[in-house]
Amino acid sequence: MNTSDDSLFDSVDLGDETLPNRVGLAPMTRTSATADGRATTEMARYYAKFARGGFSFLITEGTYPDEAYGQGYDDQPGIANDDHVEAWRRVTDAVHDEGAPIFAQLMHAGALSQGNRYTDERLAPSAVRPKGEQLEMYGGRGEFPEPRAATADDIGDVIENFVAAAERAVDANFDGVEVHGANGYLLDQFLTTYTNERDDEYGGDVENRIRLTAEVLEAVRAATPDGFVVGVRISQSKVNDPDYRWPGGEDDAAVIFERLTDAGADYLHVTEEDVTTPAFESGPTLTELADRYGDVPVIANGALEDPDAARATVDEGADLITLAKGALANPDWPQRVAEDRPLEDFDFQRILQPDATIDESEVPEPADADD
Ligand SMILES: Cc1cc2nc3c(=O)[nH]c(=O)nc-3n(C[C@H](O)[C@H](O)[C@H](O)COP(=O)(O)O)c2cc1C
Repeated sequence: MNTSDDSLFDSVDLGDETLPNRVGLAPMTRTSATADGRATTEMARYYAKFARGGFSFLITEGTYPDEAYGQGYDDQPGIANDDHVEAWRRVTDAVHDEGAPIFAQLMHAGALSQGNRYTDERLAPSAVRPKGEQLEMYGGRGEFPEPRAATADDIGDVIENFVAAAERAVDANFDGVEVHGANGYLLDQFLTTYTNERDDEYGGDVENRIRLTAEVLEAVRAATPDGFVVGVRISQSKVNDPDYRWPGGEDDAAVIFERLTDAGADYLHVTEEDVTTPAFESGPTLTELADRYGDVPVIANGALEDPDAARATVDEGADLITLAKGALANPDWPQRVAEDRPLEDFDFQRILQPDATIDESEVPEPADADD
């Protein structure tokens, strides 16, 4: 197909960026940083490879914002101190050399933390032990510990720590940040009915349950320069509960997407295991709902590695799409699609087993590295 006829290769404006196509890299935790949370040269080569392969923007793996309760996994990168900033600069430099912007995903794991070098305590909206079991792919085992309910002071600290992390992301030469409000981590624990039993202004109806995510966004937006992209990721499903759906259906979706738009998000990144299916039993997809009730660009993610599924999602209202597993299988997915070359299937065993760390076979030779 001639790319000028292909909607995936339209250019799109986001913050200060003009992206040459609609296809970005989705955030993927690879637990390949140093034990104290510094990004490595291997990670720089890994991220640069996707930019070289034609992805028009990259979102990093979930990165912990603080030296308190934020970290979720051993060997997860942080953006919680100056050493982390220094280490991320080699990643942002390597990606910028390939011509793409890169956004840091700021992730507070909350009750889903299964590895934190700073504390053994877990912070959550309420003292509710998470469903399911820790993820073995990230080195965990068995049930999650019971977390402690956040006090009003803790909530203030969470917001401040997201802001400080976003400021450090500016220093590390990131082009934006994505506030991780999805997939069952801390902010999503506030949004989710059964993990939030609070009776203050952060619990109860959906307006209250989305409040913390919105306040984090507002504070991060206010603290970062104009043109620096501040996005948010939202989902219904969670790593430890894939079938959860917002109990209020479309009414909840309306409140959530309107509130996040009002909070100043530059984009809404919606994700489901398969984002092409209806958000609820039937009816619109999450992409359509974000487009209907939000007023900013929508990024859609989940089972879009088939180019026709990606195009159909653009037709539905997504301005951009992201790929996770499809990108691991095809680090040059946009180039392959542009040139009408075949795509590789994702091989879970080869790429993500026995653990999720970056394999040497996934990164170009060090000679290609920028440092
Ligand atoms: C190895 C792996 C790690 C992931 N880590 C993150 C993460 O750090 N943050 C996040 O928001 N989503 C994470 N995800 C979810 C993906 O971003 C994406 O939502 C999911 O894989 C569905 O998209 P896909 O069908 O394109 O793979 C991860 C997925 C995989 C496979």
